[in-house]
Amino acid sequence: MIFTILGLIALSSFPFIQGQADPVKVTVFYESLCPYSREFFVDQLAPTYESVGEIMLVETYAYGFETEIARPSGDGYTFSCQHGSDECYGNKLLACGQKYLEDHEVFLDFNFCIMTSDYPPSYGVQCSNQVGLSPDVLIGCANSTEGENLLHDVGVVQGQQDPEVNYVPWIIINDVHGTITEDEARANLKYLVCHTYEGELPEGCNT
Ligand SMILES: *[C@@H]1O[C@H](CO)[C@@H](O)[C@H](O)[C@H]1NC(C)=O
Repeated sequence: MIFTILGLIALSSFPFIQGQADPVKVTVFYESLCPYSREFFVDQLAPTYESVGEIMLVETYAYGFETEIARPSGDGYTFSCQHGSDECYGNKLLACGQKYLEDHEVFLDFNFCIMTSDYPPSYGVQCSNQVGLSPDVLIGCANSTEGENLLHDVGVVQGQQDPEVNYVPWIIINDVHGTITEDEARANLKYLVCHTYEGELPEGCNT
């Protein structure tokens, strides 16, 4: 009983700690070379995360309109992508980065580095260096069946979405996909995140 009362007092003396409200979950399905996906990262996702990332939970899946065929050997897949084979390679860089960067915030830094560059498939070395990941590990993964299997796994997650992903970027807020919310996210993600969050707003929401 004593401990419970002390616990209540302790909790009630810090009514404004962040983490009281759930972060706003932003899930994005995209393609590394899709111009609209890149635009969303450049204009909305990266700057919004920079400003109010502490109230966001961002999940990203680079797959999109891709087809895959399992290799006859039984290991790996060959892919074909909407914007050509470079796009598949860019998507593999992202799938491999996600595996090797276990700190999610560091992975997002890497992801934003890739997606806000002028040509995502070409930035594997530079962006892995930027976050302290060995480029050999990243490129080794992206150029092998390991990267193929990881990209396949991303496709599995995309395939489980209901409603199904039928354009990119496909943006889901707090696990619900709606076209009105998605339009708001594309127009002003920070406004949407700040207005959706139910806790004390961070400084970044004021600007
Ligand atoms: C990895 O694959 C990319 C894309 O196919 C290619 O441009 C690059 O030369 C390969 N790098 C290595 C180290 O094999």
